Amino acid sequence: MMESTPTPRSDADRIAEAVTHIRERMTSAPRLALILGSGLGQVADELDDRVVLSTADIPHYPASTVEGHAGQLVLGRLDGQDVAVLRGRVHAYEGLHPRQVTFPIRLLHAIGVERLIVTNAAGGINPTFEPGTLMFIEDHINHAFLNPLAGPNDGDGPRFPDMSAPYDLKWLEESEQAALQLGIATRRGVYLWTLGPSYETKAEVRAFARLGADAVGMSTVPEVIQAVYLGMRVLGISTITNFAAGLSDEPLAHDDVMRVGARVRTQLASLVKAIARSSR
Ligand code: HPA
Repeated sequence: MMESTPTPRSDADRIAEAVTHIRERMTSAPRLALILGSGLGQVADELDDRVVLSTADIPHYPASTVEGHAGQLVLGRLDGQDVAVLRGRVHAYEGLHPRQVTFPIRLLHAIGVERLIVTNAAGGINPTFEPGTLMFIEDHINHAFLNPLAGPNDGDGPRFPDMSAPYDLKWLEESEQAALQLGIATRRGVYLWTLGPSYETKAEVRAFARLGADAVGMSTVPEVIQAVYLGMRVLGISTITNFAAGLSDEPLAHDDVMRVGARVRTQLASLVKAIARSSR
């Protein structure tokens, strides 16, 4: 008899298996999800009726390798509203295919999430963005030249999705109002995605400034492209953790990024909660 080879699973099958794992454990129906970047995960601890899933236990979920990016999917309620919070994310610089990087987005969409708040840490290119600035992402530049949609179209969205407005401007304006009411200063800007993991050279930062970038980072853009493809509404917030290379005399260090992230964490947490509250 011929030896049977395992049937290769499709991406849709993998998502379905992951959804089953989650649905067996969840009691809520979140339509809003938060993705919290470097050191910003503590909002998840404040949810009521928490169900904490380790992403390592979710079938096919890509493994994270970065310090400060403990992988958890936390389901719960924020002021009575069902939300899903992803603490930690995976990055293309870890060696993952952009398609794996956006597995969590396809998963969130498959459990019913329609709106996504993504946060990240970024280097400030705009010289007026001091470390500690909170920046709403109004647009992005894909300078990693990778795209999670490259490959056969899985049919959940258009082959050539429009990217003229990936970030929901109305939601952004409402969020600015929420920040104002809390007395939290925010800025708006363009986020540029580089693959990493090395930080930029000074010449790159000068070039990115000329391209129109206000901030530079190593995440978020693939997730946003995937979310827009799936028809989700997106809000992005960058914590400017450092001046980008060449804007200050200091060399860049991940520890500094984490430290500034920790300093504004409380503000960002209140802001994200206020936004979640006002966007039911
Ligand atoms: N460059 C790229 N990614 C970053 C930076 C930076 O300066 N700071 C935090 N994430």
